[in-house]
Amino acid sequence: MNLEEFVKKLGLTINPKLHVVVLTGAGISAESGVPIFRGKGSMWENPEARKLASKAGPPWNTRETWEFYEWRRKLVSKCKPNAAHYTLVEMEKYFEDFCLITQNVDGLHGKAGSKNVLELHGNMWKGRCVRCGKIVSLPETPLKNIPPYCECGTALRPHVVQFGEPIDPNVLTAALTACSRAELFFVVGTSGVVSPAAQMPLIALQHGAKVVEINPNPTVLTPYMTISIRGKAAEVLPQLWKTFLLFSQKQEVKF
Ligand code: OAD
Repeated sequence: MNLEEFVKKLGLTINPKLHVVVLTGAGISAESGVPIFRGKGSMWENPEARKLASKAGPPWNTRETWEFYEWRRKLVSKCKPNAAHYTLVEMEKYFEDFCLITQNVDGLHGKAGSKNVLELHGNMWKGRCVRCGKIVSLPETPLKNIPPYCECGTALRPHVVQFGEPIDPNVLTAALTACSRAELFFVVGTSGVVSPAAQMPLIALQHGAKVVEINPNPTVLTPYMTISIRGKAAEVLPQLWKTFLLFSQKQEVKF
């Protein structure tokens, strides 16, 4: 099936009033050179990452934790946003009600120019004070001091959600609210095994959204999707967006 047929199958007329939500995972940054988490070529297959991560632990504001994050920050500092990130910037400009939810902490959506990004798992370019809660921007790598310190004199932790930690309730509420009113939902580059993000496409489906998955591999979410497109985000998303725009210009077309 070509992309035009995928769009027809969705049965939606694309227009700026459509409520659109996009959920991204590590796969959207894969072609920028950021390793995904699971499977071939993933971060957890790299012995250096495993070694550094094994020393990181609560309270997460120690030298060991920052050594792991500095390793990741250095790697990501060399990566640039790709065509998929830039397509989402275009989509944000086009749709009046557009919500971008990401599980990624690499900051590449912001670097591409996306304005409103709900970062479910935080951002590796920020630190957070474990005492006063202040969030501090830490854009440079290597850091001058490891760990970096807050003005209040306490060591910062990375502003990243660790396994077992809760997501910021404001971010989570905003994401769930967007999911419940979505008419069109894209799931891009996630294995769909980490909750609550993994539940979001299903919540959108339950509320009547059409859900489109873009991933080179099938996932646990695939059986539930309205449409699953097998391919790399940086190739599929720009093409799909072009196809959507072509259809939007032919408003007389009835699917
Ligand atoms: P995963 O590593 O679990 O999954 C990445 C997905 O991207 C897989 O389904 C791949 O098939 C797909 N993929 C690979 N290359 C792609 C490409 N070029 N285009 C599109 N898709 C591609 O990463 P996540 O699902 O993001 O949590 O993982 C979720 C969370 O688990 C992460 O946010 C992180 C991790 O532990 C925290 O750090 C809290």
